[in-house]
Amino acid sequence: MPDNYNIHPTFDKILKREDKESLLNQKSIVIWITGLSGSGKTTIAKGLELELHKKGYLTKLLDGDNVRAGINNNLSFSEEDRKENIRRIAEVSKLFMIGGVILINCFISPTEEIRNQAKEIIGEKDFFEIYVNTPLEICEQRDIKGLYAKARAGIIKNFTGIDSPYEEPKNPAVEIKTVDTTIEESVQQILDKLLHRIEYKNV
Ligand code: ADX
Repeated sequence: MPDNYNIHPTFDKILKREDKESLLNQKSIVIWITGLSGSGKTTIAKGLELELHKKGYLTKLLDGDNVRAGINNNLSFSEEDRKENIRRIAEVSKLFMIGGVILINCFISPTEEIRNQAKEIIGEKDFFEIYVNTPLEICEQRDIKGLYAKARAGIIKNFTGIDSPYEEPKNPAVEIKTVDTTIEESVQQILDKLLHRIEYKNV
């Protein structure tokens, strides 16, 4: 490059993930919470987000009902659309993550294949699977949104756990059995496992 260009290459430098992490004093990861509808994913995620916020971490919570009301409002609950749902969410999560933000994602993400796809997009070292294990009978008993009753009545088709499959994760980072765990304990289990991973340490 000729001297009279007066351009210094460092001006072209795009700020990197590390720069954002350093600014925010945190390491960004994706906490991916899977489980049946009504299992308690979002409740636990909200509790987790509040705790992390109090500790000074910048987070973003994404959940099925919200994302499907917006960016993914053209997707159904067919196997193909669920896959596309999770693919877009994983791509969006990656963008947040590169911006230094800690993601807390609550999606049924019902199959191994779908969760593997998310893990591949995000990258294995930054992807942490949390399984909210609440038996179908309990989710159905609670039926907070009234959707299980509709699914049993045939009003909703392809409902996860009723006429659409849910495959349990084989090796989650954390498994929470909500039947005998409080929300506070559930949040603590996740913090115990992941807090060290989001603490920013100058090496
Ligand atoms: S996923 O299977 O594609 O990962 P996602 O988490 O985005 O699902 O959305 C799940 C939410 O959509 C449920 O909590 C429920 O409120 C609503 N829902 C509506 N129809 C269905 C259905 N057929 N199966 C599962 N959830 C449904």
